[in-house]
Amino acid sequence: MTRPGPGTTAGAKAPAYLALTRAVSPRLAECELTHLARTPIDVPTAFAQHHRYEQLLTSLGCEVRRVAPAPDHPDSVFIEDTAVVFDDVAVVTRPGAPSRRAEVRAVEEALTPLRALVRIVAPAILDGGDVCAVGKRVFVGRTTRTDDAGIAQLRTELAPFGYSVRAVDVSGCLHLKSAATAIDDHTVLLNPEWVDAGLFAPLETVAVDPAEPMAANVLRIGDTLVYADAYPLTRARLEARGQVVHTVAATEIAKAEGAVTCCSLVLRAQR
Ligand code: GLY
Repeated sequence: MTRPGPGTTAGAKAPAYLALTRAVSPRLAECELTHLARTPIDVPTAFAQHHRYEQLLTSLGCEVRRVAPAPDHPDSVFIEDTAVVFDDVAVVTRPGAPSRRAEVRAVEEALTPLRALVRIVAPAILDGGDVCAVGKRVFVGRTTRTDDAGIAQLRTELAPFGYSVRAVDVSGCLHLKSAATAIDDHTVLLNPEWVDAGLFAPLETVAVDPAEPMAANVLRIGDTLVYADAYPLTRARLEARGQVVHTVAATEIAKAEGAVTCCSLVLRAQR
């Protein structure tokens, strides 16, 4: 079941994108943590920051549609990990953290009318946060959440659609998309301490400012970027390249080892 999100306007011009989101769980503070120490999370602030994130997506041309909430699943706001969506197919994942596997079902139901579905099946594991697609090139992090079997299944499922899948070793962070995300169709923003920039060739790469190691996660909405407001030095690098960057506060999500891409599944609307 999905529900209209904030800012959805009946009768307005059809949005170019659909963004599936999921409410912040009241139990967010019980989230999985892998590389971060647990620090207090202000859940009301997390609700407010998430709401503003959804409003920003709406303002950038997305119809925001909330998947049914999962209040007993602390990490369920991180909907990105439950599926990987392309224009022609969506891959329902099998998350690497057992605590997160029950999050998948409702997302699968929401995607059923929107895309042809394929699935990662046991014992393989794969988190959507480990998948960075740049056009038909798909880079997949080999992490605690995604194994070689998951990468192999993804490669097999995507091959008929013309996608190539490349495994990428990641260290120092949870997911590949903590270390590298696409900022346009031929450029990847990355932290070279966490992932080898050479693996993305022939794509261009841009490094985060060394003072901002967490700054490689950016969400593309068409030609614009949604970015956490905590990384002004790297933002300046992006803007110097002519990128249009919209910022949001994401402090509480960051404490839960999440970032802006984690909180939505963005689909190009199909007419
Ligand atoms: N807390 C984000 C995750 O571990 O999946």
